[in-house]
Amino acid sequence: MSWKNLRVNGRRLQESLETMAKIGATPSGGVQRLALSDEDKAARDLFCSWLKEIDCEVTIDEMGNIFGHRPGRNRALPAVMSGSHIDSQPKGGRFDGIFGVMGALEVMRTLHENRVQTERDIVIVDWTNEEGSRFAPAMVSSGVWVGKLERDWAYARTDINGKTQGEELERIGYKGTVPAKAFPLHANYELHIEQGPMLERYGKTIGVPKGVLCLHWYDIYLTGTANQVGPTPMAGRNDCLLAAAEMIQAVNKVAHIQGDMVGTVGEIHNFPNSRNIIPDGVHFTVDVRSWEDAHALSAWEMMAREFQVIADRHGTHLRMETTWRVERAPFNPGLVDNVLEAADSLGYSSHYMVSGAGHDCSYINQIAPAAMIFIPSKGGRSHVEVEESSWEDCEKGTNVLLQCMLKSANEK
Ligand code: GLV
Ligand code: MN
Ligand code: MN
Repeated sequence: MSWKNLRVNGRRLQESLETMAKIGATPSGGVQRLALSDEDKAARDLFCSWLKEIDCEVTIDEMGNIFGHRPGRNRALPAVMSGSHIDSQPKGGRFDGIFGVMGALEVMRTLHENRVQTERDIVIVDWTNEEGSRFAPAMVSSGVWVGKLERDWAYARTDINGKTQGEELERIGYKGTVPAKAFPLHANYELHIEQGPMLERYGKTIGVPKGVLCLHWYDIYLTGTANQVGPTPMAGRNDCLLAAAEMIQAVNKVAHIQGDMVGTVGEIHNFPNSRNIIPDGVHFTVDVRSWEDAHALSAWEMMAREFQVIADRHGTHLRMETTWRVERAPFNPGLVDNVLEAADSLGYSSHYMVSGAGHDCSYINQIAPAAMIFIPSKGGRSHVEVEESSWEDCEKGTNVLLQCMLKSANEK
């Protein structure tokens, strides 16, 4: 049988996704599997056992990235890789990340049961802490793997309880010994849900991103003067939360200036957080994304200037940290074409687009040819418990991945 006629098993893919969705299941139908939590460990253990069932060579690197190698005929050739992440957002969905890991696993299982030998090695990967919601930043372990972030800096990142990423890797038994260092890759494909409304809006099945927006994260710290709310007159207060509220408005206003930009304050901590104390400390985050790196940078300059004016007006002290920046990732045109052609040959409609969501593929793209495959997200909803994609679309997206992997893995 020609490899062009191979198809994945949609039913088995659904079962893997449903089994994974039980690990960290939330009462409202989502998943909470924060990076390096007990739930992340349980899902990793299961994933590793599934890899071993199909004779993959499993390695864990210093960042806890899990690789499953399936040897090709010519092991000297750079491999073809696919995967995504097992961790989720707090109260996240059942598809973000895990679909790309289970999809790649389904590809591996299909090759295994059909005894398909490819020219090149095929590698499946689970990247540690893609979400960045427990330990900032996101995509940290693919960032270390490609040499853009420092391993020890990543280990030292803390969660809200002061636990470090390094400690938690050790605690769950996933601080491996293999250096977190890129090996040569011929191609990298990441399968993912769209996480936005475009495919549904245009009635298309496969999203083919030309790349991923740049992604910039900032942390803002304000300090003021706490006091009893009743006796303290309105004039002359140094109210950090009030200053932060104006800053949040500024983020929204500046992000509207360029049509291709988004700016969001998603996390805020107010101290001491008591209804009858004027807040004397606020920490909030800013996320700025654009297809144009320069737009995102100039937007940040405008925001930072406005923040200072607001802080001064309220008599609050302002400290701003640039936590993380990853430049936009224009994907490899040859691989993007492979995705378009695979969708076409399978009879699935497709839509050329950009990805507003960040993905490990952004970092991999910096060292190797990379591309992504999207399927529709119902209602365009993601990072929420109601996140949903149809099983039929999961199967179709995974068939596109299978065809792309086989094409690249058989190139001599
Ligand atoms: C990753 O999930 C991101 O887009 O923030
Ligand atoms: Mn994701
Ligand atoms: Mn996500």
